Amino acid sequence: MAKTATITYGDKKIELPVIEGTEAEIAIDISSLRAQTGLITLDPAFGNTGSCKSAITYIDGEKGILRYRGIPIEELAKNTRFTEVAWLLIFGRLPKQDELDRFSRQLTMNASLNEAFKHHFEGFPVDAPPMAMLSAMINTLACFHPQFNKIEDEETFEEVSARLISKVRTIAAFIYRRSMGLPYIYPDPKRRYVNNFLHMMFSMPYDEYQCDPDVEAALNLILLLHADHEQNCSTSTVRMVGSSRANLFTSCAAGVCALWGPLHGGANVAVLEMLEEIHKGGLTPQHCLELAKNKESGFKLMGFGHRVYKSFDPRAKILKKAADTVLDKLGVNDPLLDIARRLEELALKDPYFIERKLYPNVDFYSGIIMKAMGIPVNMFTVMFAIGRLPGWIAHWKEQHDDNTSRIARPRQVYIGPTTHDYVPMNKR
Ligand code: ACO
Repeated sequence: MAKTATITYGDKKIELPVIEGTEAEIAIDISSLRAQTGLITLDPAFGNTGSCKSAITYIDGEKGILRYRGIPIEELAKNTRFTEVAWLLIFGRLPKQDELDRFSRQLTMNASLNEAFKHHFEGFPVDAPPMAMLSAMINTLACFHPQFNKIEDEETFEEVSARLISKVRTIAAFIYRRSMGLPYIYPDPKRRYVNNFLHMMFSMPYDEYQCDPDVEAALNLILLLHADHEQNCSTSTVRMVGSSRANLFTSCAAGVCALWGPLHGGANVAVLEMLEEIHKGGLTPQHCLELAKNKESGFKLMGFGHRVYKSFDPRAKILKKAADTVLDKLGVNDPLLDIARRLEELALKDPYFIERKLYPNVDFYSGIIMKAMGIPVNMFTVMFAIGRLPGWIAHWKEQHDDNTSRIARPRQVYIGPTTHDYVPMNKR
């Protein structure tokens, strides 16, 4: 394979290096193009632009492959849990037992928030959007832990990662309690990460939440499956902010803002909204399927299809099993869940969906599992953020550790007015 690519522009020929990744992905390195020719490349939404070299996550959308640090997602889902995957993503290898124990201890010790945080929560209206509160509160962590504005070594990095991953879960639960006018429930050091989250969400001072092991396992899976997805919008945002050497808390707070958008983290909410619309409008799942197939209707089946995965979404395949277990176990009687199951059943045998390889995606199943667990729909994107946080931290660290990294500063093709004189007010 050629190690250079040649670009011809006018009567000039420019040789550019070709880079090959470990999974044979090939890229033309255009970083010297402008210096050599004065030209830049234009790639709106970066659909064709590699913004970095990364050793964290590999995706092959055609084959339905997702690997964290080389390990297939199916193996991780079967053998481990969210906090171990967090360490793997951040530090690049599976932790040894003593390393995982140390990390777990740090997660436990850092679960509580400074008491002053309560005043911050109370400053928000009860109906404040959870993602706005989450972003603000992660930024607030930078005020309470300024010692982490500069991270010099791996030990400190582990400490700050544990703090952030642990406190985000407490912040998320407090956001829910605030919105419901319920008393805050403090973290319980005897519970594991996910169990503790559900406790802070659903315990009452007079009635401690008993966590079903299947529910705990399903939430662990949801978080683990969302933990990284290489250069998606929020992760690229974290890298962009971090490239200015902004601290980890602030960079991740920016990631939350990017994730908030309906085109990104909001898709699991769209699934539930669609199910509600179907229910309210008295549509049958069959009718809804017909609408989705009719291009004139402008209606799409939310939770089906994926931009990257064109055979199947490996995360959805794993979650489907968990959805079946949790829904059966909880025996919830919810018409929306019945609609979801029927839609899935119909779509999977419909030629329109089969031919176009439109399968339920991760958002379809994560939405219905979280609904069955009693997590309110407006908290779904917050759950996604808790899951994605280790990925954001891993990418921030990868960039921070790379001594060749520079502040990200894209260019543009200017299409505004050419130079003209200032016109005084009385002459306009
Ligand atoms: N319902 C009905 N038809 C669909 C759907 C759907 N959900 N998704 C795609 N199609 C059809 C398209 O109309 C197109 O049909 P055509 O070939 O006859 O024109 C064909 O399938 C191919 O689809 P594209 O639009 O080319 O797929 P694209 O990659 O552009 O879009 C997307 C992917 C945005 C995810 C799309 O499938 C969709 O809108 N799905 C619903 C929203 C959703 O669930 N988003 C979450 C994605 S997962 C995530 O973000 C974590």
